[in-house]
Amino acid sequence: MNADELLRLERVQVHYPVKYNWRGRPVNFVHALNGVDLSIRRGETLGIVGESGCGKSTLAQLLMGLVPATGGEVFRAREGGSWFGSGMQMVFQDPQSSLDPRLPIWRIITEPVYIQKRSSEASRRALAAELAEQVGIRAEYLDRLPHEFSGGQRQRISIARALSSEPDIMVLDEPTSALDISVQAQILNLLKALQRQRNLTYVLISHNVSVVRHMSDRVAVMYLGQIVELGQTAQVLGQPAHPYTRLLLDSTPHASRSLDEALSLAVELPSNRQLPTGCFFKERCPQACAGCEQPQAMVPGVQGSRVRCQLAR
Ligand SMILES: Nc1ncnc2c1ncn2[C@@H]1O[C@H](COP(=O)(O)OP(=O)(O)O)[C@@H](O)[C@H]1O
Ligand code: SF4
Ligand SMILES: [Mg+2]
Repeated sequence: MNADELLRLERVQVHYPVKYNWRGRPVNFVHALNGVDLSIRRGETLGIVGESGCGKSTLAQLLMGLVPATGGEVFRAREGGSWFGSGMQMVFQDPQSSLDPRLPIWRIITEPVYIQKRSSEASRRALAAELAEQVGIRAEYLDRLPHEFSGGQRQRISIARALSSEPDIMVLDEPTSALDISVQAQILNLLKALQRQRNLTYVLISHNVSVVRHMSDRVAVMYLGQIVELGQTAQVLGQPAHPYTRLLLDSTPHASRSLDEALSLAVELPSNRQLPTGCFFKERCPQACAGCEQPQAMVPGVQGSRVRCQLAR
């Protein structure tokens, strides 16, 4: 691995068994990830964008060590197979369901530290107060329960919890998708400020192109469990080379309109139970031709980007 790489995936697959024969052998799979090559570099924000069901959350869980790769390899700069002590923390879409409703927030915020180090209650409270302040929650609220806060405040609490163990990488899976538009911007700006202060590395997952554009240094565009375009944000979202990326950008003229809404108006997403042959995008691609019957590898594009399309060669 290179010095600035924290994590690297090579040809990673995640196939979930969903049907078994009478011997208990899996006979049918959901092909959630199908050969993902990706590295995460210290201090960057890597945006992952793609429509619902393309494998974003599976990728997040794989990075966290919560889902095993069924093929390919995962290399980590820091040892440790799961999130426990591995330098990884995650912020989920729905803070409501990811915060234990029975615990005061000071305990929630310091849960990761408690699990790792079993520190004293006084030191946990002091840490919770410090982190709460950093995310914009007043220290006098530390004994309150999650339901006493708004959605945006709960997401701030989730972020404080993720920060408590000083992770190398924070995986943010649709961190603002459940929030009102006005609150979304506040949370994104908070994440940016924390990143500057603490030199954090983010993997930001979103189906919302504008969120990814606003936040990311590099962008990976996913389609049916593959990355189809990867490069600097300005390059990928400014001069997209893959027909899917172009469709994705054309179909999201408004920040508030989701990709899923826009694309579901066009051709339906193929099933990931039975993967297409050749280029996975050919049924929906406006530029499809005979050569698209061949499987497509990532090829070098402009400015160090990589593109999974024969036309980009
Ligand atoms: N535990 C699971 N078992 C079986 N299929 C799953 C499981 N988790 C996700 N999937 C399927 O894998 C595909 C990718 O899902 P997901 O990673 O959640 O995508 P996204 O986050 O981009 O919407 C979907 O078809 C989804 O239904
Ligand atoms: S390989 Fe063919 S079908 Fe696939 S994205 Fe490129 S032009 Fe479209
Ligand atoms: Mg998801």
